[in-house]
Amino acid sequence: MGNVALTGGAPVLSEPLGMSWPIFGAQEQELLQGVLESGIWWRGGHASQDESQVGRFERSFADFQDAAYGIAVANGTVALEAALRGVGVEAGDEVIVPAVTFVATASAVLQANAIPIFVDCDPRNYTIDPQAVEAAITPHTRAVMPVDYGGMPCDMDALQAIADKHDIAIVSDCAHSHGSQWRGVGTGAIGDCGGFSFQMGKTLTTGEGGMILSNKEDVAQLTASFANIGRYPGRPFYEHHIPCTNLRMTEWQGAVGNGQLARLAAQTATRERNVTYLGEQLADIDGFSPIYRDPRVTRWGFYFWHFKYDGAQFAGIRRDTVMRALNAEGLRVHTGHTHPVYRNPIFQEMNFGRKGHPFTCSFYGKEVDYGSLYLPESERIYAQEALCMPHASFLGPRSDMDRTLDVLHKLAQNQDELRAWEREQQTEAVSA
Ligand SMILES: Cc1ncc(COP(=O)(O)O)c(C=O)c1O
Repeated sequence: MGNVALTGGAPVLSEPLGMSWPIFGAQEQELLQGVLESGIWWRGGHASQDESQVGRFERSFADFQDAAYGIAVANGTVALEAALRGVGVEAGDEVIVPAVTFVATASAVLQANAIPIFVDCDPRNYTIDPQAVEAAITPHTRAVMPVDYGGMPCDMDALQAIADKHDIAIVSDCAHSHGSQWRGVGTGAIGDCGGFSFQMGKTLTTGEGGMILSNKEDVAQLTASFANIGRYPGRPFYEHHIPCTNLRMTEWQGAVGNGQLARLAAQTATRERNVTYLGEQLADIDGFSPIYRDPRVTRWGFYFWHFKYDGAQFAGIRRDTVMRALNAEGLRVHTGHTHPVYRNPIFQEMNFGRKGHPFTCSFYGKEVDYGSLYLPESERIYAQEALCMPHASFLGPRSDMDRTLDVLHKLAQNQDELRAWEREQQTEAVSA
């Protein structure tokens, strides 16, 4: 029996750090009860925005993120699709997306009949590399969809300059960045628009849910119309103007959203305080370093916190061994997502149905070969480097961060044991 929990030693932590998620209380219960008793369970039944929970949620969250307009929808994936429609993305258009993200970033592009073009990320903080965006622009490019990965804002100055130069739209995927700010402005309020997710794991949750934010009236109106079955504001109820769908959020979701939003600022401050401390202390442990935070990120609301592992400074031990060892010690650690999005079967096998749409669309007329795509940073990060902790681990006291450091120090002090365990596993795998 060794020292580390992976080899049978006692784990450092007997229970997970931070809080269990989601957090709720009397305010959510009262708001939900209010919806129930009102007898109006959908947003359209209310005479004014102020009476509707969804209407209030839209206004309050848009305010919180510094946007003039908010359009609440059923989930984050359709928020992105509606946002793309709102900036005029159509069949045959290309939309540049990062490969380091969740599949919804790319699938929303496909749902908008457009072609996702994957580019690599900035290895400092895993957000889209602006130079790679510029290099990928073609006459077909209509938009770029930067992802605030884990909640870290992208370099919006560089992206805006590129978008202006090439006359393309910026539709941000802000599914992870509730509360984040770039130079004092909330994510989603920069560029043309941004789409958020309120799925249950997110730092602002309605179970399922999403919202598009924008400061552009025309974008907001088209997006809202697409999400509300093609209606235009002020026009008759049964008058429908554009090809569309129904993505409306329910009053239940709006009620929970209002309750959760009241907690978000304080929770964001706690997380940010804890992560800043932990990141600073990490400098003392060879092999681990925090993700880079640009000084222009004036508030950091993160969904998960990435830190980097460097096996060369850790006896050559593999990242996956270290991740197993950390979890065995009771620390909740994973890699974020597990592979670049283009590695999914949908892209490798080109699972686009009998007619191959949107790739065979006559407005496009180009070949796309995802099978031979290899973006080195995206591949390396997921295979060797990325480690991350969920946001709820940062909602406790600072002493939780010290306990996290205890776990990391313990592994650092027992590298020989981890290396021996890894060799043993490799030998067993070869002889099996
Ligand atoms: C980066 C990113 N974009 C979009 C989404 C889609 O959000 P939803 O699950 O609410 O549809 C997610 C979901 O986690 C995500 O991680």
